Amino acid sequence: MNNLAEQLDQIVDNRRSYRVYEKGIAIPNEVVVRSLERAIKAPNSSNMQLWEFYRIKSKEALKEVAKICLNQSGAVTASEIVVFVARPDLWKKRQAIHLKRLEKVKTKNIKNKLFGNSELSYYTKVIPMFYDTSFSFFRDLFKRIFIWNKSRKSPFMQDVFSKHVPVVSQKSTALAAQTFMLSITAEGYDSLAMEGLDAKRMKQYLKLPKSAEINMAIAIGKGKPESAKKRFRLDYDTVVFEM
Ligand SMILES: Cc1cc2nc3c(=O)[nH]c(=O)nc-3n(C[C@H](O)[C@H](O)[C@H](O)COP(=O)(O)O)c2cc1C
Repeated sequence: MNNLAEQLDQIVDNRRSYRVYEKGIAIPNEVVVRSLERAIKAPNSSNMQLWEFYRIKSKEALKEVAKICLNQSGAVTASEIVVFVARPDLWKKRQAIHLKRLEKVKTKNIKNKLFGNSELSYYTKVIPMFYDTSFSFFRDLFKRIFIWNKSRKSPFMQDVFSKHVPVVSQKSTALAAQTFMLSITAEGYDSLAMEGLDAKRMKQYLKLPKSAEINMAIAIGKGKPESAKKRFRLDYDTVVFEM
């Protein structure tokens, strides 16, 4: 095993869910900033980056958000809480940023060998086909007929209906959350992912629209060692299949 893999092993093994945090130890701002910068580098669907991260730092805000997290001990004792939010509703804004970026590439006449002009057409044509959920009944009906026809002879992407849009942005946001938690561990601090929360109240508190989705809240700080349970995982052979 090389050095990097050994370091990754250490980070993965040390990342445990800590449910109580040391009161007097505040997590340094730069640790959170670096970890969010790493989270932003997470792989994500179509590079649409349909996510937002809300840092809950002040005493008053922490108290409110801990309440929304059902007063779990991890939330109540956290030095800070970061709420990971999936934003499928922001697709048009993200699309516009991509189009602007690609327009620049075009005007500068830089030839993109991999995509040619097709990256531009991907963001112009394919992205709205998936993300636009207006008149969803008719769109989905059209897609069903189209996919039925397309997939008769060869594989074709099936999970492209309106109901899949939030799932896609949730997946990418969860990858950012995991990157964030691993980073917090690498920096010598601890974390707890929490989905045990009142998502409706959280959205109200963060002033988010209905179409935004809470992915998870992550409590961070210096964990009390005794608050992490002994790790239990299913055997490799129970969950890994080879064919
Ligand atoms: C999406 C998600 C939501 C979770 N929600 C909670 C939660 O609300 N409260 C809690 O105490 N732990 C929560 N956990 C932590 C899990 O219980 C924990 O990861 C699991 O028991 C394995 O333990 P480990 O993280 O120490 O390896 C959550 C974990 C994930 C990934």
